Formats: sequence, C-alpha cells, structure tokens
Amino acid sequence: MTPDLMEAGARALAAHQARSRAYVSDEVYFGQGVALYVDEISVSFDGFKALNALSLTIDVGELRCIIGPNGAGKTTMMDCITGKTRPDSGRVSFGSNIDLLRLSEPQIAQAGVGRKFQKPTVYEQLTVFENLELALKADRRVRAALLHRLTGAQRDRIGEVLVLIHLKGEAQRMAGLLSHGQKQWLEIGMLLMQDPKLLLLDEPVAGMTDEETERTAELFLSLEGRHSLVVVEHDMKFVDQLTQGRKKVTVLHEGSVLAEGLLSEVQANEKVVEVYLGR
Ligand SMILES: Nc1ncnc2c1ncn2[C@@H]1O[C@H](COP(=O)(O)OP(=O)(O)O)[C@@H](O)[C@H]1O
Ligand SMILES: [Mg+2]
Repeated sequence: MTPDLMEAGARALAAHQARSRAYVSDEVYFGQGVALYVDEISVSFDGFKALNALSLTIDVGELRCIIGPNGAGKTTMMDCITGKTRPDSGRVSFGSNIDLLRLSEPQIAQAGVGRKFQKPTVYEQLTVFENLELALKADRRVRAALLHRLTGAQRDRIGEVLVLIHLKGEAQRMAGLLSHGQKQWLEIGMLLMQDPKLLLLDEPVAGMTDEETERTAELFLSLEGRHSLVVVEHDMKFVDQLTQGRKKVTVLHEGSVLAEGLLSEVQANEKVVEVYLGR
C-alpha cells in the first residue's frame, strides 16, 4: 500500500470509530433552546393505539405539566422517552443531537434523562446520606461504593441536595423509617445526584399529604431553570401551584395532544371538560 492509501485508511477508521462512539458519549446539545422533541410517535398494543402521532416540545429549563384522563398515554409517552417502549413510528430527540430511539435505557439515563417512577425505590436499610452517596457512584457495587471515600465536592453536593429535598435533618436516619413523602423526596434526590438535564416525574405526589404536596411543588419550582421537568399529575391544586398562572400545560387524550395552554385556558376548554375535568 502507498503511504497515501494508508493514511486515507487510518483516517476512515478513525472517523468510523468516532461515529460509533458518538451515540453514547456525545454531550447533549441544546441548539434551539429545546430540551426534548417528541415528533409524531405512535405505539400500538395489540392493535390498540396507546399513542397516536403524539408531538410535543419541551424547552430547556422548562417545567411542563401534563394532565389527562387515565389511559390517555401519559406513562407510555415517558416509556418511549426513556427507552422502555419503542414507538412504532416517529422520532424522539434529546436536545438537537441525540436520537433517543437509538439508545438503550441505561444509555438514555447516562445521556442525562432521569425518571422517577411512582413507587419509591430507596435502600431501606441504609441511611438517607448513604442512599445519596450510592446514587452519586451508581457505577459501583453497593459495598465498594460505600467504602470509597467521598471527595469534598461530592460531600458538598450531597449537602446541597439534602437541603433541596428537605431532608437535611434526617441525613443519618435509616431510609426505611421515613414517611412515604420523604421517601419520594429521597428518590428525587437520588436522581438529582446524577445531575440529569431532563427529569420525568410520573404522578409524583400520589399518596402524599397536603403539606408534602406543597413542599414538593416548592422543590420542583426550585429545580426549574437548572433542569427541564416533565410532570404528569392529576392533582389540579398541585398543577396550579407549579404553573403559577403563567406556564403552559399539555392535555393528553387518546394518545395525542388534545389541548395546550394556561391551566385556566384548558380548564375552560369544552373538549377538555368533557373528556377529563368534568367527570
Ligand atoms: N404494556 C402494555 N400492554 C398493553 N396495553 C398497554 C400497555 N401499556 C399501556 N397500555 C394501554 O395503553 C393505554 C395508555 O396507558 P398509559 O400510558 O398507562 O396511560 P396513562 O398513564 O395516561 O393513564 C391504556 O389503555 C393502557 O391500558
Ligand atoms: Mg400513568
């Protein structure tokens, strides 16, 4: 082979390697100020259309509430964003450069999409602090992670998150002894340790007391701006507190967007009242 050809071959190989790495290691790029594009996704379960050409866009730093009747497809939408379910058609993009439909669930989490499920999954036998510590070092096994010394910066970050989730005073308590609401906050704190750019929260205040619900709204409002948040919730008082009369909410029905606008606007929308609020 001539030196020229060898050089061309080496260049082609390097380009190929860069491309195959790109999906996993690319930093998300928020080009047009958009954190998430969901573009005409459809999902069928045994012929039933759970999502029907659903499209929506979430801006960087935006806190968006999604409401809609049971079976509207809210959880299925989150499943498609996080890689749990693959849509039959459509596109889901994180920022302007990451095609989420090409990534596995762990890769999507690694790219900066965090998801909170309804049931809290904290380590009951460990303290609140240890739970956060483990979340910070999610790549290690439990014991190895706890033996590994924290850096000062990591300790500071845990301290910050403890304040955010209102559990500073409970840091040395066993997680199993927390109230239901406190466990939910701890799980949100565990998500925050990974510093996700986009957070998906499915019915986060279900089962919480009124006071816990109010504090959760304060927590989400404090995360807005630094993170983008998508919050699915039925509790209209909570949605009202989150949207503060000026943020857009999205109403899902039969797998697509029925209405979008201020809470007061969608509450006055006849179609929305008929399928959801009027029941
Ligand atoms: N894995 C599945 N298999 C079959 N049907 C499903 C599955 N997941 C969801 N569905 C159906 O899709 C529809 C939308 O469900 P879901 O996304 O859970 O709605 P929501 O969260 O808005 O209440 C429902 O009719 C539900 O029964
Ligand atoms: Mg649901």
